[in-house]
Amino acid sequence: FSLKKHNTFGVDVTSKYFAEVTSLDELFEALKYANAKNAQPLFLGGGSNILFTQNFDGVVIQLDLKGVSEEIISENEVLVTSKAGENWHAFVQYCLGKSYGGLENLSLIPGNVGTSPMQNIGAYGVEIKDTFVSCKVLNLETLEVEKFDHEKCRFGYRESIFKREGKGKYVILEVTFKLTRKDHLIKTEYGAIQAELKKLGSEYSDNRCVTIQDVSKAVINIRQSKLPDPKIIGNAGSFFKNPSIPMAQFLEVQKKYPEMPNYPNGDLVKIPAGWLIEQCGWKGKQIGNVASHQLQALVIVNATGEASGKEIFDFSRMIIQSVKEKFGIELEREVNIV
Ligand code: EPU
Repeated sequence: FSLKKHNTFGVDVTSKYFAEVTSLDELFEALKYANAKNAQPLFLGGGSNILFTQNFDGVVIQLDLKGVSEEIISENEVLVTSKAGENWHAFVQYCLGKSYGGLENLSLIPGNVGTSPMQNIGAYGVEIKDTFVSCKVLNLETLEVEKFDHEKCRFGYRESIFKREGKGKYVILEVTFKLTRKDHLIKTEYGAIQAELKKLGSEYSDNRCVTIQDVSKAVINIRQSKLPDPKIIGNAGSFFKNPSIPMAQFLEVQKKYPEMPNYPNGDLVKIPAGWLIEQCGWKGKQIGNVASHQLQALVIVNATGEASGKEIFDFSRMIIQSVKEKFGIELEREVNIV
């Protein structure tokens, strides 16, 4: 079965078996099938954070559970629950259509709702952990449905229990967020948003307050201006995490590179990986079918549409190596490698 259309890198790999499930019952059936064939299951949402480096010898299970429901819990708060298979951006737009606030900064992120807690998706000053209440998961060992509250998910920067101890043990079935109904917390601290709102300003009268819809529009414009659309050019967003290094190490490197952008956070300092990669000369550089995006070095793209997963992986290895050599900083991949 070709997985080319099921991963946003557009890598042409196959899986031995493929199942699309639209309900919990169908998911159980697919798991039974996998068991009977003695084939390893692999769960796929939007395929937007995965790199297949070879054909997959098991069952790919595409989670297509659909549906959104809501429960108003107070004058200003609503719980909105989405099944895993809903497209993330469509879900954000649905909430904005109802004027529910909290997810607007996360507009246009590729992928599905069900995978959003895995890496605690985040952008422009907001992460899903800020509005996340709980998720329902299927425990693959007991085959029981369990509820994970916020604490149990152990969210961190691009991290959760589902990427660590819980890796491969659970399938996320649905996610619940707590959103605001009127007193929205507009988050525009991220510099680029303010600049974009100003640009959009001509459409608004001066004294009009910024709305959640405005913020969404600004974020969409920023993303479209520098992040490649996976429908046009294969990619999986940021390929690496922004590294955090100890303060002492930072001060040492800074002596040599005083212009290095940095975001101190306690004893650690976060450095933008895009900057490190650009400094190593990778921005816009193409080797074979693979390139670092010309507008955002942190994004690796399938430049010709013909790249193999291995080629992309090797490209990422070269980037890691040169950043390590120049700065002594080890980049960590954000994308899941299969
Ligand atoms: N920079 C460069 N050259 C580049 C790219 C970035 O020098 O080619 C430096 C600049 O100093 C810039 C800074 O990096 O000011 C930050 O760049 P940007 O605002 O583009 O954000 P990022 O840190 O590269 C992160 C997320 C993105 C998210 C943006 C906006 C990670 C791994 N990535 O990128 O998330 O959209 O912030 O909040 O944290 C994703 O995860 O797929 C993703 C796109």
